[in-house]
Amino acid sequence: FTAELDMSDIEKGMYPHFMLKEMDEQPGVIRKILQAYENEQGELAMDENIVNAFNEADRLYIIAAGTSYHAGLIGKHYFEKIAGIPVEVHISSEFGYNMPLLSEKPLFLFITQSGETADSRQVLVKIKALGYPSITLTNATGSTLSREADHTLLLYAGPEIAVASTKAYTAQVAVLAIAAYVVAKKRGKTVEIDLKKELAITANAIQTLVDSKEEMEQIAHEFLAVSRNAFFIGRNLDYYVSLEGALKVKEISYIQAEGFAGGELKHGTIALIEEGTPVFAIVTQQAVSLNTRGNVKEVVARGANPCILSMEGLEEENDRFVLPKVHALLTPLVAVIPLQLISYYAALHRGCDVDKPRNLAKSVTVE
Ligand code: G6P
Repeated sequence: FTAELDMSDIEKGMYPHFMLKEMDEQPGVIRKILQAYENEQGELAMDENIVNAFNEADRLYIIAAGTSYHAGLIGKHYFEKIAGIPVEVHISSEFGYNMPLLSEKPLFLFITQSGETADSRQVLVKIKALGYPSITLTNATGSTLSREADHTLLLYAGPEIAVASTKAYTAQVAVLAIAAYVVAKKRGKTVEIDLKKELAITANAIQTLVDSKEEMEQIAHEFLAVSRNAFFIGRNLDYYVSLEGALKVKEISYIQAEGFAGGELKHGTIALIEEGTPVFAIVTQQAVSLNTRGNVKEVVARGANPCILSMEGLEEENDRFVLPKVHALLTPLVAVIPLQLISYYAALHRGCDVDKPRNLAKSVTVE
């Protein structure tokens, strides 16, 4: 891994923060992944042993922590919808003492940027002792979880230095989509998405978004400059992105932020909405867009300050930002970008240490 490192990868260069550099690298990371997971015929492909491991499983158990857990939630959607494999996603620290009833042929997929997270490793040690097969999806070859699992899938994101994960998350989501797609083909499933083409379109859309920094800075000032808390809502894939958006805001700007399934707000949390509370709503999924907009109306009626981020084709008047259109399965890759940038600018505005937030470590090697 280090042998391939270009020094520019670990230097900030003209960037004030690693996080900003790493967010900017995201279109390039997606393109690199497309090259890395391509065979000689130019088709998306993976190591045959890994394809077989997925193919033989009757259920996939995704184990991860933090941002990687949020990527895992999207991975579940991909493996179930594209490849037809049932998936459970577990927070690694919980799995150890609350192991679910396992299927007959489980396959464990560890998602970990660093490959060193102790919470995830303790699960790997346990399931290995039980004789179950494992794959680690990581950014670090030679890392503990990579060495100890049966197989490794690489992210090709390059070193991620900022504590708040950005490009590793988008890389995880992209590789999970590719893995689900390749396994679906292996299983002879009809796959409707031309994933290679759609990921290339998505890389361009991400470029447009990282080039919209002024707008994101504006939104951060408008919605997060003085607030003590913020909510992120969405449904289906947008819900998973709202969890990641809230985590980014918490990690680096120290604003209390929560991500919710749009429909769940009314079952309790809506009590917290006050005059001016910022509510970010993500609207990229046509089937549920009106429901999410209904939730926005509910919070607005209680005084919330809504910031709707919608996808081109689903936009309405007064939406705060319109995301460039990408395939419905890949919207998390674009919807997360404004949330990363907004968190960054909110943290800057509040004078926080963006790359090294208080109380956090890049990789947590204690349970
Ligand atoms: C730490 C980091 C998070 C990260 C999590 C999981 O808490 O601060 O940003 O998401 O660990 O890390 P991993 O390397 O396993 O993906």
